[in-house]
Amino acid sequence: MLKRIGVLTSGGDSPGMNAAIRSVTRTALCNGLDVVGIKRGYEGLLEGDLVPMTRSSVGGILLHGGTILRTARCPEFLRPEGVNAGVSRLSENDIDALVVIGGDGSFRGAQELHERGVTVVGIPATIDNDMAGTDCTIGFDTACNTALECISKLRDTASSHDRMFIVELMGRNAGFLALETGVACGAESVLVPEIAPDIKSICEKLNYAKQRGKTHSIIVLAEGVMSASDLASKLKGQGSYDPRIVVLGHLQRGGAPSCFDTVLASRLGAAAVELLAKGEKGMMVGRINGNIVSSPIRAAWESKRELDSDMLRLVETLSI
Ligand code: ADP
Ligand code: F6P
Repeated sequence: MLKRIGVLTSGGDSPGMNAAIRSVTRTALCNGLDVVGIKRGYEGLLEGDLVPMTRSSVGGILLHGGTILRTARCPEFLRPEGVNAGVSRLSENDIDALVVIGGDGSFRGAQELHERGVTVVGIPATIDNDMAGTDCTIGFDTACNTALECISKLRDTASSHDRMFIVELMGRNAGFLALETGVACGAESVLVPEIAPDIKSICEKLNYAKQRGKTHSIIVLAEGVMSASDLASKLKGQGSYDPRIVVLGHLQRGGAPSCFDTVLASRLGAAAVELLAKGEKGMMVGRINGNIVSSPIRAAWESKRELDSDMLRLVETLSI
């Protein structure tokens, strides 16, 4: 019988993780369950770094970035011995079920636990938005808005100086963050890892724009393609603008979650606990076409989420 659940955040932090922790905790308490927070993801699990969660311990965190439970990448969990030790820690601490809030790596760890008989449910949270089983992961919307705000400041400078800015965005091996932000900021070009870069046609496009009187340009580059400095060296001296590079880096991971991410995290947190209360195991929650849905955890990486080809075309059409 389900009496006590654990909750942890793992992998890269993302804005809205705190809202998810709050929702999991309060929904569980409302269902008569005890909740224990596990600090620093799987690392804290292995070390038994636990903290009791109460209604008030999740007060005042709703709109705070980062994660009060802290997070970590835990290489030990990549080995079967590490996962086995995790299973033992959960049972030694009378934790009947675990809620894992994180990205696809964290979900792979959750799947390993599930396959060893642990009752587990996953809540997708990463700024990369590279997980299937949901249209959007917690933190993606905020990260796009953060990047957009920075790029609009860069455009002021770019237009004053007749410059080209190459802005490198995160996303690991995926281009969702770059594409969404690129459309929103009216980038002249967006480079994503899903499509091989065509430097020659970028140069032609930039030169043509310059001939028509365009005074500056913004190129949004996903980190999975190449570094901004490598792209700058490829474009330098090709006749268009003088390139400057900006790597937004971890600025994209912090900050208060947007309204969208806060609501998403609150809904997904509650849905995860409701799944556990219904006796479901090895599932993830997600939001598809506005509805909260559930699917097996492995769906997050087994069916690859594709970039929207209409969005890619839109960048080309709107940046003429
Ligand atoms: P994210 O969850 O944001 O994708 P990572 O890929 O770094 O971040 O994964 C977070 C953690 O999840 C890893 O440090 C590791 O502890 C665990 N993990 C990742 N992949 C696996 C795996 N195949 N098996 C077990 N645990 C894993
Ligand atoms: O997965 C989130 C993410 O921010 C990626 O976009 C990025 O490649 C990676 O984490 C950076 O990881 P770290 O914080 O360990 O440098």
